[in-house]
Amino acid sequence: MPVVPVCAPEAESRYDIHIGHGLLKNCAALLACCKGKKAAVVADTNTAPLYAETLMGQLREAGAAPVLVTLPAGETTKCEAQLAFLYDSFLDAKLTRADYVLALGGGVVGDITGYAACTYLRGVHFIQMPTTLLSQVDSSVGGKVAINHARGKNLLGAFYQPELVLIDCDTLKTLDARQFGAGLGEVIKYGCIADEALFDKLESLGSRENLAPELDGVIARCCEIKADYVRVDPHDHGIRMQLNFGHTLAHALENTMGYGEILHGEAVCIGMVQAARWGETLGHTPTGTAERIRSILIAYDLPHDMPEHLSPAALAATMSLDKKAEGAVIRTVQLTKIGACKAVPLTADELRALL
Ligand code: GLY
Repeated sequence: MPVVPVCAPEAESRYDIHIGHGLLKNCAALLACCKGKKAAVVADTNTAPLYAETLMGQLREAGAAPVLVTLPAGETTKCEAQLAFLYDSFLDAKLTRADYVLALGGGVVGDITGYAACTYLRGVHFIQMPTTLLSQVDSSVGGKVAINHARGKNLLGAFYQPELVLIDCDTLKTLDARQFGAGLGEVIKYGCIADEALFDKLESLGSRENLAPELDGVIARCCEIKADYVRVDPHDHGIRMQLNFGHTLAHALENTMGYGEILHGEAVCIGMVQAARWGETLGHTPTGTAERIRSILIAYDLPHDMPEHLSPAALAATMSLDKKAEGAVIRTVQLTKIGACKAVPLTADELRALL
């Protein structure tokens, strides 16, 4: 079973990501830290019926006293009302700072549960059990936790590293093809920004079917790459922004089209092709890179072209509101080749001209 260590020295934390099959029904030993403690398992209406009882059984076997808290499934759950519901549930369960909170679900559950764990009593122990591909390779690792505000996504948040991440690849069997694809977009992103060999491997596998037997290793490799960024830049002040390759346009697409309309990972797919095109136009990226990315997205049955009905002016205006914008300058990420990248600041006018 692959184990990927994450060290975030500035954040004074070190934890392991365990990746394997059947982990959910066989994780009592890994949850030994919960012995003698209360453990609030936060799931959503999708994951609770599938996995909560199994996890609660493992927690009991580990000597913990579990309680289940169930959130509605979906992005709208990342709101102040559901956060208040979590605080109330933790108070009802009389959770103390010695106790544990476990997030059992995708990015939504992980983000809001992590934010609640970070702020409740100024911080309780936190464990991530991500059940979607996107949360396994990205959001459960590195400590970004947040809820949304009416004016934007993830506007209220913190850095709060989990103490343990348990990735049971079997949970992907119940994930629908579209959600799986959204995670694949982020997997391909890791190849683009940091690992040419990973990109080559995904390219030669060439389909979701061929990838299936290799998936555990690919997930582990993505977690290693993310862990490297988190080790160097836990609070996202510098190089960690490279993880945002394709995200400047992706955030604008999500914002303009509506969050239910396009999934984050799908928007990242389109954003990566466009960002590579911008890089080619500006001379940062070798010619042909955008087409190579577009081809791999087609092979994995992922979105790859800009929706035609969107106005470039509206997209450019939304991009200038990006969290990564600094004054008039928007920090984009450009590939210097497949497997390497750099930050390139662009003005809103420059971006508008590129769209
Ligand atoms: N998802 C990007 C990051 O964790 O920095």
